[in-house]
Amino acid sequence: MRVRIFETDEHVARALALRMASLLAAQPAVVLGLPTGRTPIPLYRALVRLHRAGRADFSRATTFNLDEFVGLAHDDPRGYHGFMRRHLFDQVNLDARRIHLLNGAAADLAKECIRYERAIEKAGGIDLQILGLGLNGHIGFNEPARALVATTHRTRLRQATRRANAALFGHRLRNVPAEGLSMGMATILRAKRIVLLATGASKARSVARMVDGSVTPRLPASFLQLHRDAEVWIDRAAAVAISGPHRGARRR
Ligand code: GLP
Repeated sequence: MRVRIFETDEHVARALALRMASLLAAQPAVVLGLPTGRTPIPLYRALVRLHRAGRADFSRATTFNLDEFVGLAHDDPRGYHGFMRRHLFDQVNLDARRIHLLNGAAADLAKECIRYERAIEKAGGIDLQILGLGLNGHIGFNEPARALVATTHRTRLRQATRRANAALFGHRLRNVPAEGLSMGMATILRAKRIVLLATGASKARSVARMVDGSVTPRLPASFLQLHRDAEVWIDRAAAVAISGPHRGARRR
């Protein structure tokens, strides 16, 4: 796992947006795995800027989002679909037919998960998976547990995760769905390349456990240590607790 440390969250966002723009230029039909949350917002803003400047063409790209809430209509603005439309999809030239999200309102959620796995396979797999990091070390909605689930699945959300998502629901915890659908650990680890983004002091502890600690289902992000091309892009605030060999990671 390679760690890259940048000065601020804006630096992280700009550098990753540039990397994604070059990937789109070199491989226009690239398949991207995308996260939601506060962390990727500056990245999406930077991608929209590059697109407007004619430097990022999404016309042939395919996207798969990591996760979605259970029970919200597909067009509910509080869901991750609504989030993605606001921050990226409505502002770049992605083809709607190549945008994929889990449908948390599907009549048969088990079938919906199988459909998603197949759609990823049919697209040829994910070339670049971008991830955020939950405060508790989750990725997607793969919460810390005694055992993790390999493929796309339905899952109960931890209170901490519901709290972290409350802003989308008018800061009312009771309105945050109790369950989600999420790519599983194998779905994520099958991506050819992975970049996990983490910014801000609140993530420092989970970042340190992820890069220095043991591989454990108690911190799902630690499984990225097993991937042959996983990078962790963080700002200085998120890097303060790192103590192992990654301490000397190149600063930008
Ligand atoms: C949510 C999402 C995750 C995301 C995490 C981090 O729970 N399901 O995919 O990575 O939040 O959110 P933030 O970037 O707001 O800290």
